[in-house]
This record gives sequence, structure tokens and C-alpha cells, in this order.
Amino acid sequence: MAFARMRTVAVTGASRGIGLAIAEAFATSGWTVFALARSAAPVEPLRAKGDVRFVSFDASSNDSVLAAAKSVLAGGARLDALVNNAGIALSASLAKTSVEDFARIQQVNVAAPFLLTRELLPALVAAKGRVVNICSTAAKKGFKYTSAYCASKHALLGLTRSLAVELASKHVTVNAVSPGWTDTDMLTASVERIASSTGRSAQDAKATLEAMNPLNRAVKPNEVAALVHFLCASEAGAAITGADYTIDGGETV
Ligand SMILES: NC(=O)c1ccc[n+]([C@@H]2O[C@H](COP(=O)([O-])OP(=O)(O)OC[C@H]3O[C@@H](n4cnc5c(N)ncnc54)[C@H](OP(=O)(O)O)[C@@H]3O)[C@@H](O)[C@H]2O)c1
Repeated sequence: MAFARMRTVAVTGASRGIGLAIAEAFATSGWTVFALARSAAPVEPLRAKGDVRFVSFDASSNDSVLAAAKSVLAGGARLDALVNNAGIALSASLAKTSVEDFARIQQVNVAAPFLLTRELLPALVAAKGRVVNICSTAAKKGFKYTSAYCASKHALLGLTRSLAVELASKHVTVNAVSPGWTDTDMLTASVERIASSTGRSAQDAKATLEAMNPLNRAVKPNEVAALVHFLCASEAGAAITGADYTIDGGETV
């Protein structure tokens, strides 16, 4: 499918991990990328890969989310895709999860995607755009010591499904991509926590997490990025909405 104009995407959490891989996949395929991140420095190297524009974005502040949306809209009245990727995890028992921790995780993982999508909606409608929310296997099942994170990801999946049916008449698609353990700093942090709380080696702790995936390895950020790119850029993606694409090597089947 040929496009007469350069397509545009906004990606949150473009500084590292899955978000960086997503931003790079779009930049190298000729899209203009609004790279939403807390600081410009990690995004800077991406500018060598294509038309990448840093937008300051802190998901913990609604004012920052609103300002970021304004900056994206100032860059053009049409937005072909929005990827709500920025997220934080917390590993703690229920007894050790504070009300503040719980609220912080809901704010970053689900309230910010809600607000950003709402603010960018006119530009997404103008482009018949596509929204992808990065959920998780924790959006599909419960895990021990992860109640705040699981609650936020289940909520993000619910938001995805609701907006999919609400926005279908406007030709905006909304889908979830749900990775299993993926090789990023988030995985490293979990490995370090398990190693320090159990006395096991980091290698052993990582092997345990990887063994949750029947392919016996972590998912790669580039693999998640390729799936997101497919949903946003392909012809088929125009007919896919409300779906939850699991990329977990079979962990949840
Ligand atoms: N890795 C996994 O195993 C895994 C599995 C399933 C789902 N996921 C989901 O995938 C997404 C990306 O995770 P990742 O693995 O790439 O994690 P990561 O390497 O820890 O990166 C997290 C990203 O989110 C950004 N972020 C965190 N708090 C933010 C805030 N308040 N405002 C703006 N940006 C913020 C970070 O920006 P800074 O650089 O500024 O901190 C960073 O870009 C998350 O939604 C996560 O829940 C990950």
C-alpha cells in the first residue's frame, strides 16, 4: 500500500527497552516519530535513523501528558499511530504494597495512556489512525507479588477493548500487544530482585524466568517492535481492532 505522505507515530517510553525498539522500527521504515520520553539524551541517537522528534513526557504528571499531546498536535493535524508503551512494574506482596505505590502504577500504566489517547484523538481520527497499548501477560492472568502491576495491565486491556468498539465508527483501531518476559531493564530488575531475595545467582534467576516461556528464552524487544509495526503499518491492520496480540513464546496458552 503506497502512502503519498510521510506517516507519523507517537511512541511513549521511547528512551529504552521495548519503546526504543518500537521508535527505531518506525524511524527506519520512513515514518516521522514523536519520541515521547522523560529526557532528550537517550532519544538523541535515534535521530540518526530517521525523522525523530523528542517530546518531553512524564506519565506520572497529567500536566506533562497534556503538554506532550499539545506538542504532538503542533507537529501536524494527523497522527497515524499512537503506541502507549511507557510503563513501570512493582514486585511486592500485598502487605508491602502501599496505597501510594498502587496509585503511582495505575497513573503511569493506565491513566496516562487514557489521557494521551483522549487528547490525541482528533489527530488519530483525521488519519484513521491506529492505537497500540503495550499490555503484558499480566493483563491476562494473575501473578504472585504483582497485584498493582497486574491490576494496571488488566485495566489497560479493558481500556483497549472498550475504545476499540467505541472508536470503530471513526475508523480508529485500538489493539493490545502483550509481551511475556522481554529482555530489557525491567527483566534485569526482576532478576536482581529474585537473586537478592533468594540468594540464587542472577544467571539462575534469569533462567527461571526464561523457563516460563516454552521457547525457553526471553522475548526480544525487536520482536515486540515488529508486531507493533505490523499492526500500525500493514494493510491487514486496518481490519484488526480490539485484539490482544500475545507475544510470550506460548507462556499463556
Ligand atoms: N520487559 C518485560 O518483560 C515486559 C513484559 C510485559 C510487558 N512489558 C511492558 O512493556 C513496556 C515497556 O517496558 P520495558 O520492558 O521496555 O521496560 P524498561 O526497559 O524498564 O523501560 C520502561 C520505559 O518506560 C519509561 N517510563 C517509566 N516511567 C515513566 C514515566 N513516569 N514517564 C514516562 N516514561 C516512563 C522509561 O523511561 P525512562 O528511561 O525515563 O525511565 C522507559 O522508556 C511497559 O509498559 C511494560 O510494562 C514489559
